[in-house]
Amino acid sequence: MTDNVDLQHWEERFSTPDYRFGKEPNKFLVRCKPLLPRAGKALAVADGEGRNGVWLAQQGLDVLSLDFSPSAQAKARALAAENNVDVAFAEADVHEWAYPENAFDVVAEIFTQFSTPQKRALKWAGMRRALKSGGLLIIQGYTPRQLEYGTGGPKQVEQLYTRDMLERAFGDFNALHISEEECELHEGPGHAGISAIIGLTATKP
Ligand SMILES: C[S@@+](CC[C@H](N)C(=O)[O-])C[C@H]1O[C@@H](n2cnc3c(N)ncnc32)[C@H](O)[C@@H]1O
Repeated sequence: MTDNVDLQHWEERFSTPDYRFGKEPNKFLVRCKPLLPRAGKALAVADGEGRNGVWLAQQGLDVLSLDFSPSAQAKARALAAENNVDVAFAEADVHEWAYPENAFDVVAEIFTQFSTPQKRALKWAGMRRALKSGGLLIIQGYTPRQLEYGTGGPKQVEQLYTRDMLERAFGDFNALHISEEECELHEGPGHAGISAIIGLTATKP
């Protein structure tokens, strides 16, 4: 069941008119542009205020932006309108949503490390199911080294992503590429400063 305390926490974070994670897309996602299909369906998981879903729609994809926060989705709708793109929305918990099978050409999960290990398994199983065979998976998250920087992300080490964890979850995918970096990130006040991040791209067998 959706944790109402979690939902309340995010609703409060999104209650101000600013975009907490900015209006510009995540840098790693933008670097994945050469891997994107020219058309097709994309799922943006826990897409929040919509910066990544809107960017995917600008690349010609038919985007479904999934998040449980009505306040974030109101901003995402405004951002889509501001950029003259159509984005569809699903308001749901990413651990409980009925992920349709073989439905998306692209699934993007950018900074969604609110999941406990048990719930992460549900989320990743859903994302895996939702991808079509040959579909592109894109993941961006923080590594445990981020705890030293404190410039964004959760404080629970078990919620952060490691190469080993990603390889165990998606090692059967094709063209698996994982990159770790420590760099300056400026993606709204929510993600600002030197950060330890990890990115994955891979295609579903
Ligand atoms: C750190 S923000 C990242 C938002 C977006 N992916 C981005 O990069 O700008 C995390 C997002 O996850 C959403 N979220 C948290 N828990 C969720 C859950 N259980 N189900 C759906 N969305 C959730 C929040 O509402 C928030 O929009």
